Amino acid sequence: MRQERDKQMRKLTRREVLKSGVAVSAGIPSRFPTAAARVSGPAGATRLPEGSANRLRERLQLDFGWRFHLGHAGDPARDFGFDGDGVFSKSGDLFEPCRQNFDDSQWRPVDLPHDWAVALPFENNPGLLNHGFKPLDRNYPATSIGWYRRVFEIPQSDLGRRISIQFDGVFRDSIVALNGHFLGRNMSGYAPFTYDLTDFLNYGGRNVLVVRADATQGEGWFYEGAGIYRHVWLVKTGPFHIAQWGSFVRSHVQGEAALLLISTEVENQSEESITFNLTSRIADKDGNIVATTDPQTMRADPWMNMTLTAQAHVPHPRLWSLEEPNLYRALTTLEDANSEKALDQYETTFGIRTVKFDPDEGFFLNGKPVKIKGTCNHQDHAGVGSALPDRIQYFRIEKLKEMGVNGYRTSHNPPTPELLDACDALGMLVMDETRTMSSNPEALSQLERMIRRDRNHPSVILWSLGNEELEQGTERGARIFASMKRLARQLDPSRPVTAAISDAWGLGISRVVDVQGFNYKHGPEIDDFHRKFPRQPGIGSEVGSTVSTRGIYTNDKEQGYVSAYDVNFPEWAATAEVWWEIYAERRFLAGGFAWTGFDYRGEPTPYGWPCINSHFGIMDTCGFPKDNYYYYQAWWSGKPVLHLFPHWNWAGKEGQEIEVWCHSNLDKVELFLNGASLGAKQVPRYEHVAWKVPYKPGALEARGFIDGQQVLTDRRETTGGPAKLELRPDRREIKADGQDISIVEVRVLDTAGRLVPVADSQIAFQLSGPGKVIGVGNGNPSSHEPDKAHERRAFNGRCMVIVQCGKAPGEIRLGAVSPGLESATVVITAVPAAPPPAVP
Ligand code: GAL
Repeated sequence: MRQERDKQMRKLTRREVLKSGVAVSAGIPSRFPTAAARVSGPAGATRLPEGSANRLRERLQLDFGWRFHLGHAGDPARDFGFDGDGVFSKSGDLFEPCRQNFDDSQWRPVDLPHDWAVALPFENNPGLLNHGFKPLDRNYPATSIGWYRRVFEIPQSDLGRRISIQFDGVFRDSIVALNGHFLGRNMSGYAPFTYDLTDFLNYGGRNVLVVRADATQGEGWFYEGAGIYRHVWLVKTGPFHIAQWGSFVRSHVQGEAALLLISTEVENQSEESITFNLTSRIADKDGNIVATTDPQTMRADPWMNMTLTAQAHVPHPRLWSLEEPNLYRALTTLEDANSEKALDQYETTFGIRTVKFDPDEGFFLNGKPVKIKGTCNHQDHAGVGSALPDRIQYFRIEKLKEMGVNGYRTSHNPPTPELLDACDALGMLVMDETRTMSSNPEALSQLERMIRRDRNHPSVILWSLGNEELEQGTERGARIFASMKRLARQLDPSRPVTAAISDAWGLGISRVVDVQGFNYKHGPEIDDFHRKFPRQPGIGSEVGSTVSTRGIYTNDKEQGYVSAYDVNFPEWAATAEVWWEIYAERRFLAGGFAWTGFDYRGEPTPYGWPCINSHFGIMDTCGFPKDNYYYYQAWWSGKPVLHLFPHWNWAGKEGQEIEVWCHSNLDKVELFLNGASLGAKQVPRYEHVAWKVPYKPGALEARGFIDGQQVLTDRRETTGGPAKLELRPDRREIKADGQDISIVEVRVLDTAGRLVPVADSQIAFQLSGPGKVIGVGNGNPSSHEPDKAHERRAFNGRCMVIVQCGKAPGEIRLGAVSPGLESATVVITAVPAAPPPAVP
């Protein structure tokens, strides 16, 4: 057996290693050859502890305890003295707020993630339409700049360590200073960035960190938020350590085993040369060590960095799949070869799986065909704008999975890392997209940061290098794209690149991509392309998209509502039924990503003001399903679905014909009004069934059949008026770590406990206990109520409130009251939890 396995798992030859792109690379040319790739077997019953935090490497969260103040883009007096006069003339006195004695008592205490834009009022200015009518641009200098200040201590004992600060995302054009010293300027609001603080720190004293973010210019054409809207980390290591994103684990599944190629970049940031041993242990999801690399012994000269590659093999790997998203961890240890003292430990989460795009057969995961049933998404959510607590990432992915979605396109920017963690953990395929299609140094750097950061995520299957670019059809575009592709290949030879192309297929960048991306143009263009380029795999990088408003059944320009039947779409787009049928029936297409899973702020298509968000979502901004959700669920989820709509509260329309639809994947649906049959209809594949029904109050019921057997029913009843409230938290128990949340759905019910589908009651929230309300929403695309509030109007029977815990355990009591209605209360328990290690 062992022999058999060893045969399958033979060492990769040098040629194969090079072909697969695993090579030694060194910042400074190394005098040492590549460590021989060695293979070793499972290491018995050893277990790896959960979260291998250690003193060798500390990764401390820097989310708490900041102060915030708006600055001014046009007036230095209101911008803490930041003007053209000598700001950069000498190092060490960059910003007034950097001074130790600066009085920040007028600055507002904030915790991260933080988006200052979401708390700004809406401005009815057509120039702000794409960004959701928030006052951020040259006309609004007083609300476009944000300052952050954080004071922290560094112990004397840290002297001699390397200390850096990592920002996961700051929107945007940020300048960071420590103790008055300029550390750097980062343009893109979506690319992570890191500064080395080692030289600038006060050891055994106070340190003043200041960030100035300038959101005057946008990067996209959608709501982007403003400020430090992702996590910040302080990382402490020894001088000889593993580099940031310095570990890359790739797997090759061969028969019953997987060969791992583990590349590790080490950095010697010291004056001493060092002979070191490098080993990686591989743990499965239960912490069992299932493989170990043989130690590699090398010498690193002072200030040298180098990359080593080792192999390990995992017998009978538990593959990462959509149904069983198995993850492994590689714990890499760097030790001094002479003293055998550990110097660094670095943990990498990865998955073992194979992916393939085939020009005839579409996409394969672990050798099995999988049609990608995806959605494109922006990153904002109701109540919080772009500053999402981590739990919302999981909440959103869970909602998409319930709908039957298996693919997520991070349109049009690198996501926050926790989104990818959620996709890894829950089983979701990701098309990971960079913001800027260019081969200039800035854009290449953004691309490099994205790939180095994200390449261990098994969920990521495609790098997307552009979207509907001006240069997509040109030769110049092709050159630019080729340079980007070269870099992507170098950093990750295991994944194909694509672009979301909206025209000129067969020209320009379309000739350079590995996988052809089709944005819209459903049908003939795709077949034509496939005929001309039969060896080119293809995917619908952006498809659909129906515009609709939850619970609304007629278009109303004045209010900014679009009916929720699957009938309205922009001229370049198509309905759900149209695009899905085209993609479902073409085997050569890997699948597609519908525009979009959730409504997002900005791009209020088809109307402008009063709408402040888009209508493209299959769910609204809170994650409440619109009716089309059930179309996708019917044809994507594999479970029996019967969804009847609209609601049956049409007082004043007695006798008038109402269009009644069912989204279903059953064979046949029969409709009844007050017990009388209105006829049965066969459900055509990938379509809905519909009736015209003269309105009479009462009960509308659909009965769904498979093979003549009734398997499901769905009812809409004429309800009474609003009588009481109901609170439905997504979780009643959360962790008291200062960050966890419960997302509470608020429902307006009649006396019989039925949701009143037209209710718009004004609801106020009261909270007691160790928690706070961090945002409210209702999915109404035209609501100008504040997100940061303790009240909200229901929209078609529902609204939402997000409750965040503090750091103390206890009972958080949330009450909801509305004049004339029976109130509701819910208790959410914050249970003791060790918060992640943080900067005090
Ligand atoms: C696409 C674009 C998206 C969004 C969409 C609206 O062309 O890629 O970002 O703007 O149109 O329909």
